Amino acid sequence: MRPAAILRLHLPLGLLMTVCACSGQAPPAATDTAAGTATGDRGAALYMQNCVPCHREKGEGVPNVYPSLAGSPAVLGDPVELAQWVLSQKRPATIPAGRYATQMLLFGWLKDQDAAALLTFIRANFGNAASPVDAAMIAKARAR
Ligand code: HEC
Repeated sequence: MRPAAILRLHLPLGLLMTVCACSGQAPPAATDTAAGTATGDRGAALYMQNCVPCHREKGEGVPNVYPSLAGSPAVLGDPVELAQWVLSQKRPATIPAGRYATQMLLFGWLKDQDAAALLTFIRANFGNAASPVDAAMIAKARAR
């Protein structure tokens, strides 16, 4: 009987697709390089578009002009404080005033998901290895 044959054929295929679903269902990313995950690609793209002019490609900054994000206590520390700095320039103790004559731009217009991807990216690159940031932490930072 045909339906039975189809069932026999499709069951193993269905199982196979379930196994592959984790990678197969990732939304298409603009660039397929960098960290590899969708969040990583989004964060990398946002970093390239918004932060590179000052903090440079490898997060190294410009000595005495723009701080390095590599090994920065502000980047590696409390994610809510980091988000407050980037989104509303509320200065945490890890970013003491008076070190730089130049100013940072405000990025409060970033969506929660995008801000989370961006901060996750800077915490996981340039030799940094801090925990990821999620959208709930961004919302918390905005509410404070
Ligand atoms: C116009 C240049 C400029 C751009 C663009 C910029 N920044 Fe900055 N950033 C600065 C300056 C200047 C400081 C230091 C400000 C201070 O200490 O008062 C800074 C400080 C920081 C710090 C604190 C680092 C430390 O250790 O003190 C973080 C984190 C940061 N920026 C993240 C970002 C991110 C993420 C982006 C992109 C969304 C970005 N910045 C875009 C100029 C810039």
